[in-house]
Amino acid sequence: MRVLVTGGAGYIGSHTVVSLLEDGHEVEVVDNLVNGNAEAVRRAGELAGAEVPLHEVDLADAAATADLLSRIDVDAVIHFAALKAVGESTQKPLEYYANNLGTTFSLLAAMRENDVRTLVFSSSATVYGEKAPVPYVEDFEPLDSSSTYGQTKVMTERILTDVAAADPRWRIALLRYFNPVGAHPSGRIGEDPRGIPNNLVPFIAQVAVGRREKLSVFGGDYPTTDGTCERDYIHVQDVAEGHVVALDAIAAGDAAVHTWNLGSGQGTSVLEMIGSFERASGREIPHEVVARRAGDLPAFWADPTKAERELGWRTARSVDDMCRDTWNWQSQNPQGYADA
Ligand code: UFG
Repeated sequence: MRVLVTGGAGYIGSHTVVSLLEDGHEVEVVDNLVNGNAEAVRRAGELAGAEVPLHEVDLADAAATADLLSRIDVDAVIHFAALKAVGESTQKPLEYYANNLGTTFSLLAAMRENDVRTLVFSSSATVYGEKAPVPYVEDFEPLDSSSTYGQTKVMTERILTDVAAADPRWRIALLRYFNPVGAHPSGRIGEDPRGIPNNLVPFIAQVAVGRREKLSVFGGDYPTTDGTCERDYIHVQDVAEGHVVALDAIAAGDAAVHTWNLGSGQGTSVLEMIGSFERASGREIPHEVVARRAGDLPAFWADPTKAERELGWRTARSVDDMCRDTWNWQSQNPQGYADA
């Protein structure tokens, strides 16, 4: 298939570009480069031995989006492009709702206009909200989220479900990711957050490489094995491969909306993650336990059995693999793509 990847210059997007190319698909990327990086697209193409066209278009611009879809001839879209900083989203709700929903409206209208009705959407485990029992199962309702970012994912799932109900030609996969970390094993592409990292593993990696002095561990008094939060970390390569199998499955299957968790089914604490990273890097990670971060849930992980049963997909890489590959990327690119 010829696939348009929105947000393909970003972290998960660029890894998915490589996996799509390796699976024999042709890929074009659209990205406004607010968080993404053109160098990530270039390197993703290089890793798979292909040229990947990058269209620098903001999907919030409906006319430009319509024009793009009318010029390129794609069979399917994987939609990653979105603002994703959880804390910032709560400070800037209007910006997050306008961007994450507006870009999706432009994209869906342009897809419909051009008879493209196969879509894989980046959702998140955050849609289960704080009332869902752990492990999280796809049919849990009602969806909810403590952040505005998370609410944009809840609402987009709803919008896509309604769109498919109104026109049964749509084939849609809603992929709910848990905590993607790691990097391509080559060390050529990886996570390169702008500014101070919000997420645990990029922060640890920047401490290990000497860009930051020490890690703050948010909360040591949670009701978990060691008092720190537990999350279901998943290697970004497993996430990328999950997109390829989900796309292949919806393209070959009946028109419908499918929801799949992309997680491992296992929780890992913050302190366990620090230990694994110290082993992978051979460096000590100075850290200090501080107050809890608002909005963090103590512990959650996926029930990954639906994806395994329906897609034949399950995670293949361990937490140690995630830390090894993150360190390989960060040590080769201490300043991220700015080293290029
Ligand atoms: N943490 C620290 N120190 C840090 C950063 C994080 O101790 O500097 C802790 C957090 O408190 C949490 C764990 O590490 O316990 C993981 O935090 P992340 O920020 O890496 O990930 P979250 O689970 O908070 O967020 C992720 C995704 C979001 C998504 C959310 C759903 O990044 O996109 O899961 O809960 F919305």
